[in-house]
Amino acid sequence: MGNHRGLAKTRSHADKNSAGKNKDLLRSQVYLQPELHSQQNAPRGMVLLSERELIKMRRVGKLAAQLLKHLEPMVQPGVSTWELNDEAERWTQAHGAISAQLGYAPSGHPPFPGSICTSVNEVVCHGIPHRKQILQDGDIINIDVTLLLDGYYGDTSRTFLVGNPSAAVKKLVTVTEECMMRGIDQVKAGARLGDIGATIQEYAESWGFSVVREMVGHGIGKEFHMEPSVPHYGTYGRGTRLRPGMVFTIEPMLNLGTREIQFLPDRWTVITKDRKYSAQFEHTIAVTETGAEILTVCDELI
Ligand code: MF3
Ligand code: CO
Ligand code: CO
Repeated sequence: MGNHRGLAKTRSHADKNSAGKNKDLLRSQVYLQPELHSQQNAPRGMVLLSERELIKMRRVGKLAAQLLKHLEPMVQPGVSTWELNDEAERWTQAHGAISAQLGYAPSGHPPFPGSICTSVNEVVCHGIPHRKQILQDGDIINIDVTLLLDGYYGDTSRTFLVGNPSAAVKKLVTVTEECMMRGIDQVKAGARLGDIGATIQEYAESWGFSVVREMVGHGIGKEFHMEPSVPHYGTYGRGTRLRPGMVFTIEPMLNLGTREIQFLPDRWTVITKDRKYSAQFEHTIAVTETGAEILTVCDELI
């Protein structure tokens, strides 16, 4: 993939510059240097993105983050989830991107009818925007946006407060965001996927909240959903070892009550079994040698 192109380019470059030079030097230029992001180091089924690809991932990630920021002031009592969807679609097109969610139809699902997911209160994820669904004071709503720009995907979501929810619900939302950030803090080359899940689960359960098991983070890049799966629960020291160039989402869903979920007959909407509230936050993350780079940000100078 991109990494093969990178390797080939380095090889011809090395060939040109090494005519008559010592073979060891050639070997170090050709094989050692690109190893950092070489596809050879990718665990089975996984893709490592090259620096050239990461530039595109930063672009689409930033645009997705900007879209969430653009929608934020609209999240008020009285707005319908369809109005949010409409504005998201307009803004996405105006910025030359495509909603990856509109029409998305993995096997077993009908095409998703919205450009964004709007998951209100007891909806865990994949809520469908609707004209008649009007936000009310005390609600919470997760808006999940996934954009496609120049061949690469960026996926991010946040849970917003509508007016003034109860203290318990506000705590659920702040703990969920903190779980995501603590998961991200675990990310660096050499760490394990289980470290991310264990950290999230430990913090969520320390506050008495439960972690949804069925929906997980996912690899992302030239595809919307790919390997690896990134559970938001697990065991320290277990699971796939992280390598520089791996890109995936961390998107914990925490429930006030039971972690059990149900699907609505629309085959998209996921709700809590006990109808208590659920919150979610999501970022797209790249693994670096020393830590994590959050790709779905718009505040930083990137
Ligand atoms: N953006 C969601 C995720 O985080 C997937 C939504 S798929 C849709 O992976 F079809 F429901 F939009
Ligand atoms: Co995602
Ligand atoms: Co998402």
